[in-house]
Amino acid sequence: MMQDYIKKIVTACSLSKQEAIWLLEHICQEKYTTLLIKNLTPEQELLLTTYLDQIKKENKPLAYIIGWVPFLNLKINVRPPILIPRPETEEWVNQIIKRLSAHKDEIKKILDVGTGSGVIGLSLAQAFPQANVVALDINDQALQLAKENSKNNTLNNITFIKSNLFEKLENQKFDLIVSNPPYIPENVSPSLDTSVLNWEDPDALFSGKEGLDLITKLLEKSYNHIRLNQKLPFQLVIEIDKTHHEIIPALASKHRLNCSIEKDLFGNYRTAWCIKKQQKPFNY
Ligand SMILES: C[S@@+](CC[C@H](N)C(=O)[O-])C[C@H]1O[C@@H](n2cnc3c(N)ncnc32)[C@H](O)[C@@H]1O
Repeated sequence: MMQDYIKKIVTACSLSKQEAIWLLEHICQEKYTTLLIKNLTPEQELLLTTYLDQIKKENKPLAYIIGWVPFLNLKINVRPPILIPRPETEEWVNQIIKRLSAHKDEIKKILDVGTGSGVIGLSLAQAFPQANVVALDINDQALQLAKENSKNNTLNNITFIKSNLFEKLENQKFDLIVSNPPYIPENVSPSLDTSVLNWEDPDALFSGKEGLDLITKLLEKSYNHIRLNQKLPFQLVIEIDKTHHEIIPALASKHRLNCSIEKDLFGNYRTAWCIKKQQKPFNY
């Protein structure tokens, strides 16, 4: 019975009960509620053994086995080595949508820098259907996956560009720029989970010794790509490393941006919310 399989999976791989249920649903291609009183077929048992081996021996992330993750209202396909979207990211993207809900008409053009699976750009394309979203990445595989996700979620107000940061955008300006860039300091690498190190693209994770190489360039170049709009409370949101809460506002200031840092659902400093220096800081 399914309860026994759940116990087996939880014990073998230290997955949570919910994760075990997702794995069983994936194997059987059925909702758990309809599976409750069933047993796995011999083929399904074999598949379960294969997956448990992949998790235990190869540290394969469950999301790469199941092949998709939910993110806000979207179903996002994932495959190695493109970064698996994280709950911390989902939280701040949701915050953007809430905070800008009263400003929808002001948001005509959005840029997602380092789109990966497309998750941020697609969520914003869905939440702001009147806007045109441009999503860029340097990685062809990421762009292919992001396009696939846009098609599967039937979102048409988004275009994808292969570009090293802003290189291919020339003088385009945006009402809102968002990014979850690679930001992990290289010396943190030994303490990262093997499932991350062995499976996810290092270029999506690390950016120089301090983790600041790409973010520094992003802050330097953003000013010229933001279409100043005094009605908007923020125009650039960047996910950051928890240790960068002091350096980022200093770097932003150097590049004519004011920014405030916010914590994530785990209590870690996680996002920089920036505006051009002409604007007064916004009080929520
Ligand atoms: C941390 S991942 C974020 C992926 C996705 N936005 C998310 O939140 O799940 C960073 C992404 O930035 C891309 N990237 C790294 N360097 C870049 C560059 N110089 N220009 C554009 N994209 C870059 C990587 O390929 C990767 O997809």
